Amino acid sequence: MESQIISRAMDFVRGIFEGDFGGHDYLHTLRVYNTAVMLAQCEGADVSVVGLAALLHDVDDKKLSPETSEGKLRAVGFLRENGVKEEKISWICRIIGEVSFSQNRGAKPETLESQCVQDADRLDALGAIGIARTFAFGGSKGRPVYSQEFLESKASGNEDVKGKGESSLEHFYDKLLLLKDMMNTSTAKSMAEKRHKFMEAFLKEFYEETMI
Ligand code: ADP
Ligand code: NI
Repeated sequence: MESQIISRAMDFVRGIFEGDFGGHDYLHTLRVYNTAVMLAQCEGADVSVVGLAALLHDVDDKKLSPETSEGKLRAVGFLRENGVKEEKISWICRIIGEVSFSQNRGAKPETLESQCVQDADRLDALGAIGIARTFAFGGSKGRPVYSQEFLESKASGNEDVKGKGESSLEHFYDKLLLLKDMMNTSTAKSMAEKRHKFMEAFLKEFYEETMI
């Protein structure tokens, strides 16, 4: 029963994200699911709830599906059709609501289950995969990889320079380099450290190649 609903949720999500090439493809959801379940096992959270919340975490995202986002209609519809009890549906919806970076900047989710899913989603914005997603997302929104103006302000030695969000490179300073200090669980913290170092090495090389 449990593995059946997980495989149905995978099919449901694959159908939704099949045509997304902007960083929210189906494989993003699959990675978040695998990482969240691993974190839940390490941290002693409820694996079933974490798994379903991870699989459904983006289906009612405000940016991707504004018309269903308020009531998390796609997630609720799927869970009801598959006979999940209302109490568990509410729990899963609460987790999904707590995952979002933009809506919960700084706020640490209360339950371990929410913490695992949030950490997994954030880990997927870091490291090699995070770098790939950043440029894919920026390109899909018509943003340049970087701007000369931004490079020059970095070259001027201003370490605190904050991006204006106009190029994908700025997203590292707006969000990605902040995430390692925002992990909830100790397992995710050590994974984030490694991915953070990789991004720092990437940026160093990037500036060398762009002759900053
Ligand atoms: P999620 O909901 O999965 O956490 P987001 O919708 O915040 O992801 O973003 C999807 C991907 O695009 C992430 O890898 C994120 O870091 C990246 N991204 C978000 N905003 C920008 C931006 N302004 N420029 C470049 N990449 C971005
Ligand atoms: Ni996500």
